[in-house]
Amino acid sequence: MLDVLKSDFKEIFKVNAENIFFAPGRVNLIGEHTDYNGGHVFPCALSFGTYAVSRKREDGLVRMYSLNFEDLGIIEFSINDLQNIKQDDWANYPKGVIWAFKEKGYSINHGMDVLVYGNIPNGAGLSSSASIELVTSVMLKDYFDLDLDMIEMVKLSQMAENKFIGVNCGIMDQFAIGMGKENHAILLDTNNLKYEYVPVSLDGASIVIANTNKRRGLADSKYNERRSECEEALSDIKEHKDINSLGDLTEEEFINLKQYIKRDVCRDRAEHAVLENIRTKKAVEVLKQGKISEFGELMKSSHYSLKDKYEVTGIELDTLVELALEERGVIGSRMTGAGFGGCTISLVKNENIEDFVKNVGKGYKEKIGYEASFYVASVGDGARKLF
Ligand code: GLA
Repeated sequence: MLDVLKSDFKEIFKVNAENIFFAPGRVNLIGEHTDYNGGHVFPCALSFGTYAVSRKREDGLVRMYSLNFEDLGIIEFSINDLQNIKQDDWANYPKGVIWAFKEKGYSINHGMDVLVYGNIPNGAGLSSSASIELVTSVMLKDYFDLDLDMIEMVKLSQMAENKFIGVNCGIMDQFAIGMGKENHAILLDTNNLKYEYVPVSLDGASIVIANTNKRRGLADSKYNERRSECEEALSDIKEHKDINSLGDLTEEEFINLKQYIKRDVCRDRAEHAVLENIRTKKAVEVLKQGKISEFGELMKSSHYSLKDKYEVTGIELDTLVELALEERGVIGSRMTGAGFGGCTISLVKNENIEDFVKNVGKGYKEKIGYEASFYVASVGDGARKLF
């Protein structure tokens, strides 16, 4: 495939490519909507992702072409005029990363030609945007010989998303994509960015991703709404106890303090954030002990909390989980990512995967009216230069 990408580059830009960079997509095993609440997450990088085939330019122009959006043609901008412009569409993500690097004082003083190709299913909630941010980051580090480590690039990519794109996401996606490690998930404490790699050994089972194929219409505004409901709950609690984030609380402390949260809806959101954080730590413990079925039970509780307390699932995600849990060989199932559409993940015994895909697929089509898509995940490495 890399040879095909290089010859596509030559055809489009009329010169030879110099380098290829890659950043994966990600999937979160457990710990949802905890990363902006000072809690823990447990994501891993996938083996599919975004490729950037590129060449330095002498002038200050950046010219970008995506094989995923060919009708948009070459999108061109100057490194000295970095603004979020609607017509630049997907190129606003790499542009935002260049902007973030420059904001932080890194010298970006020439342009580049870049061909982008991604094989992450579009709009599936597997972080194609964070993937293109990180592939841009590793390219900039390489081209400008910058002295910065991956965690700094993760932070700059998140800054691009928050401040340039305007989506108030936490750090999970960029962290998983930057720091991913083959066959491992990452337990990350978002409060202090301490992390630990944990082998994903599932005792003869695999992670099956099921995509609802639902367009995620109002996802960003609902995401920001959940965030502010959690902030409101935190500030009510802070009037009675000195904490930094909901992630600081034990279950017992939360039970004693929840009476001080004024609005019911904020109490429910906070309950999810606190218990999901505790569940995530527990899930990693049981996984390390090889107790896969306990891990699966925690996945289910996570889903029901996201459905009933956080209200970010919807009929498509709920249907996929309900159907999954009726199948033989299913250890656990839950929505993953922001919600409101996107994907579920299920742990399925290898010998049952074929039937799982057939039966869940059929049931989903019957109930929802269109097809779901399925992928057996393989857990890959983080963002890097390929050559
Ligand atoms: C999106 C955000 C992440 C995280 C998840 C929910 O993927 O980008 O930061 O908040 O939703 O867990």
